[in-house]
Amino acid sequence: MRSEITAYYERLAEPGRLGATPWGKLEYLRTWDVLMRELPAPPAQILDVGGAAGVYAAPLGGMGYDVHLIDPLDEHVAMASILVRTTATLGDARDLPVPDASADAVLMLGPLYHLTERADRVRAWQEAARVSKPGAVIVAATISRYASMLDGFVKGYLREPAFGEMLERTLAEGVHENLGGGKPEWFTTAYFHLPNEAAEEAADAGLAVKRVVSVEGPLWMLADRLDSWLADDEELLLSWLRRVEEEPGLLGSSSHLLTICRNPG
Ligand SMILES: C[S@@+](CC[C@H](N)C(=O)[O-])C[C@H]1O[C@@H](n2cnc3c(N)ncnc32)[C@H](O)[C@@H]1O
Repeated sequence: MRSEITAYYERLAEPGRLGATPWGKLEYLRTWDVLMRELPAPPAQILDVGGAAGVYAAPLGGMGYDVHLIDPLDEHVAMASILVRTTATLGDARDLPVPDASADAVLMLGPLYHLTERADRVRAWQEAARVSKPGAVIVAATISRYASMLDGFVKGYLREPAFGEMLERTLAEGVHENLGGGKPEWFTTAYFHLPNEAAEEAADAGLAVKRVVSVEGPLWMLADRLDSWLADDEELLLSWLRRVEEEPGLLGSSSHLLTICRNPG
């Protein structure tokens, strides 16, 4: 993993990220909602690649799944190791320290948007294909190509010229590099996908693409106003987002997308 990415995660603690903001809560709730419809019933072996400190491993282990988490950061692996029904080891999505055909489901909720080279992302998909059993589901998260620009308005970053300069390259090439001149709270080195791009990568790795769904849709831009929706009408909000999750016209407005595939065997 590139040193600036490691430094970013050491500086801004990943544990607790999804509970710290209303848009983080929405990302978590919607990702969980999709996982609950896509994963096989427990007991099953889930490989959580880039699982950080176990934000999804913890509730999955609590449900009776056996989770093996892989992450390149020592701190994340140490925290995940103490979770119920969870083992954790250091590793990279491009070269998983895991036997062939051993997982009933593979999660890649993080690695793909930190790999800026397409060949590396296809390699990560190939590894997911190798370690998964025939018929297993693979769920991978990406960040939308347009999320940085929209975030620039939500948080006001676009008033700063350095953000606009960085954004020009992101929009043109997908590569986001917060190096020199950027603020430490701006996101670290990443790749921001076009809506169908991850599906094309997965297909190149030999996987069968089932569907691409938006996680938050455009609702993450409600920012602080999301809190009252989540407090008073969470199920109403989730039901409408579920209804339009595959709507192609909304995919690019979502901050995160999930590409759901199967190992064709
Ligand atoms: C934003 S966090 C997401 C964590 C969690 N899966 C979630 O969805 O909230 C991205 C995670 O991917 C991990 N990561 C980055 N590059 C990776 C790679 N090449 N292989 C595996 N994990 C990677 C990071 O260490 C970090 O824990």
